Amino acid sequence: MMREGGRMRFVRRTAQSLLLCLSMAASAADVPKDAKHEGAASCASSLCHGSSRPLEAHGVLQNEYVTWSQFDPHSSAYRVLLNARSRQMAARLRIGPAEKAPQCLACHAEVVPAAQRSPRHQLSDGVACESCHGPSSKWLPTHHQSPAVTHADNLARGLVALERPAVRAETCTACHVGDATRYASHAMMAAGHPRLVFDLETYGELWRTSGGREHYRKGPGKAAPAPEIWVAGLVTATRRQLDLVGQHAGRGGMTDFGVYACHSCHRDLRVAAFGGGTVAADPLTGAPGELRLQDGNARMLIVVAQSLGIATQDFTAAWTRAQSAVNREPARSAAAVAAVRSALARLGVSLGSQRWQTAERQRVFDGLMRAARGGAFPDPAAAEQAAMGMVMMLAELELDRARKAQIDQLFATLRDENAFDRARFARVLAQLDRGTERPVVVPRGP
Ligand code: HEC
Ligand code: HEC
Ligand code: HEC
Ligand code: HEC
Repeated sequence: MMREGGRMRFVRRTAQSLLLCLSMAASAADVPKDAKHEGAASCASSLCHGSSRPLEAHGVLQNEYVTWSQFDPHSSAYRVLLNARSRQMAARLRIGPAEKAPQCLACHAEVVPAAQRSPRHQLSDGVACESCHGPSSKWLPTHHQSPAVTHADNLARGLVALERPAVRAETCTACHVGDATRYASHAMMAAGHPRLVFDLETYGELWRTSGGREHYRKGPGKAAPAPEIWVAGLVTATRRQLDLVGQHAGRGGMTDFGVYACHSCHRDLRVAAFGGGTVAADPLTGAPGELRLQDGNARMLIVVAQSLGIATQDFTAAWTRAQSAVNREPARSAAAVAAVRSALARLGVSLGSQRWQTAERQRVFDGLMRAARGGAFPDPAAAEQAAMGMVMMLAELELDRARKAQIDQLFATLRDENAFDRARFARVLAQLDRGTERPVVVPRGP
């Protein structure tokens, strides 16, 4: 698939350099308290998930262990901590060996309290099956006995409902954005950690097809529509970023730089307002010189909502108030961040009940294109978020194959964030847009 190829190359290079519904099913909170992590080796039998090739007998491929251990970047997440880059980072941070440092293991391994680890659980397995699927001791012995044992039974025993977009978003962003126990701080970045980039739908597909092998089949009726997964990712990532602001704002008088948009500081000294004149198009801009929060996901949400006719004024106003509080009055920032969270929850509910027909896909694509060309994604981190969303929508509209060259060019403008040029980004977008304004869209089947 062309879309995957282009995006994977893009993501690899980048790496180098809830829906807030109250009805969230099996999430970490519901996992039975005494459930244990049994370790990846418990899934590895060739009769279970360790087949060398996909099998047909059951609904699942049964080669997940082999795919994971040989092709999935998560199986090397621990090993990465032993490489030269990690050693250098750890030396600069003075934290001892990276592979023993809790602040690194938090995301690069399956860290669980000793009481919840069975003897087969190994930190050196990296991000293994139960990091995503949940501790298995309560469902492992019986989960294969379908139809006698149902999916609902497994969920009640602690299996994570990853088929639900909101649950999946919680799971992946815990590491790819951060949570209460996981944080990629500015010190880590300055010591050499890659800037974190994430889009649930794009990264989900890249990961699902790691090494050209599928982790699971996307059968008809099985997976939620891509835009639903995507929006759940944007909402949850935004919420997690706000949580991180709450946790790291005003500590010891200073806010950790890692919660701000990197390019607020890491940019040149030209004054944008004298050149581009794009400030007016930017709903989240603050006072001159104000540091922006990490806002790539929030900017996307605003454009998506506006394209669908959902009001965003509350969210935008709450966001800019919180941003200015974090900048100027850290004592007020907790309350201001809580207000954004409420506005985000409301936006999440509206977006979560959205139906995605061809017309909505088209409107969102057009809206993103207009916003991006008008300057609503002012730095490479935000632009990259927009590019991932736009290309996903093009694929949904089945226009991606015809625009392969332009998509490659688009990602090429983002490859080196230090050389990011807004004008060139806008020019490439204009090329990409040509001919998509009034496409003959053949609606896809159900
Ligand atoms: C909040 C979660 C998080 C924390 C904390 C974290 N990492 Fe990472 N790390 C990641 C993710 C996610 C990636 C993949 C980057 C991407 O593609 O977005 C990554 C990538 C890396 C890479 C580059 C991977 C490669 O293939 O070369 C290195 C090296 C690394 N991390 C080392 C560390 C070290 C050392 C620490 C502790 C000082 C650490 N990480 C802490 C999440 C984290
Ligand atoms: C990075 C997170 C992650 C890791 C690690 C992971 N999985 Fe998955 N797995 C998923 C997601 C997401 C799905 C799709 C769930 C869905 O949509 O029903 C999935 C699907 C599956 C399925 C198909 C389920 C179905 O009902 O179709 C099986 C079986 C599976 N994984 C087994 C494993 C095994 C075994 C391992 C370890 C060797 C593993 N997974 C590691 C996230 C992960
Ligand atoms: C326990 C933490 C953790 C969880 C949960 C997790 N990841 Fe990751 N992920 C990582 C780390 C760490 C890396 C970097 C590994 C490496 O470089 O070897 C990574 C790498 C990746 C990459 C490769 C990125 C690149 O630049 O090549 C993709 C894609 C990805 N993850 C997608 C997902 C998706 C989708 C989910 C949820 C279904 C998920 N991850 C869940 C920690 C996690
Ligand atoms: C509030 C301003 C600010 C923000 C926001 C910020 N940084 Fe920095 N960054 C700095 C300063 C100051 C230094 C130290 C520069 C020096 O050593 O000369 C630095 C250093 C670095 C370095 C090391 C550069 C070197 O020459 O060694 C990297 C890499 C880096 N930051 C990445 C990031 C990333 C990634 C983000 C976003 C997650 C980010 N920064 C956000 C101010 C910031």
